[in-house]
Amino acid sequence: MTRLSANAYDGRWKSYTDRSHRMFLERPALGDGQRVLDVGCGTGSLELKLLARWPGVRLTAVDACPEMVETARRKSALLPRVDWRVADAHSLPFPEESFDTVLSASAFHYFEIPQEALREIKRVLKPGGRFFFLDWSRDFWAMRLLDHWLTIRGRDYHRCYRETELKALLETAGLAVRTAERFKVGPLWGFVWMEAEKA
Ligand SMILES: C[S@@+](CC[C@H](N)C(=O)[O-])C[C@H]1O[C@@H](n2cnc3c(N)ncnc32)[C@H](O)[C@@H]1O
Repeated sequence: MTRLSANAYDGRWKSYTDRSHRMFLERPALGDGQRVLDVGCGTGSLELKLLARWPGVRLTAVDACPEMVETARRKSALLPRVDWRVADAHSLPFPEESFDTVLSASAFHYFEIPQEALREIKRVLKPGGRFFFLDWSRDFWAMRLLDHWLTIRGRDYHRCYRETELKALLETAGLAVRTAERFKVGPLWGFVWMEAEKA
């Protein structure tokens, strides 16, 4: 859970989200009728972009923060094709094998028990389903400094990980990592992108 302000989020983080969401619009190749879940959807800006690109996908988006989900609902009122839910990544309110694809953008560093969240993601994925993941990477020195500072501030931030740690977490959860890439956005933000598949 986080205390990020839902009202201020889009204004403050637009450039960050636009640049970090780019991977989700280039890599997954989502098909009509595919069931897609976004974990930690925030104010839903990724969903609006996904629907513009793939109008036929069936999107479900969850966030633990009710204000984030409310803002997302309001923004998409004219485009009511997303099933928005307030839900925690550690306990997803969906039956097993519900989704073809799961996405998560810049939310993993908040998850208190990442193994549990990944177990849930694997549980709700269909066999052969794909997981597209983006988060901060501890492999960049600037992100290690940021991690240190955010940990001291003692807010809801949990931690970010090295690529090798993430790979091990995903593989242990039963998600086979097919692609892992690191990249930077501007002088500060260092990301890791992963594509994994449920065996
Ligand atoms: C930095 S925002 C990213 C939002 C969005 N994915 C994006 O790219 O704009 C992180 C989001 O993760 C959500 N979050 C944090 N912990 C969570 C949890 N345990 N379960 C679900 N969502 C969570 C926060 O409420 C927040 O909206």
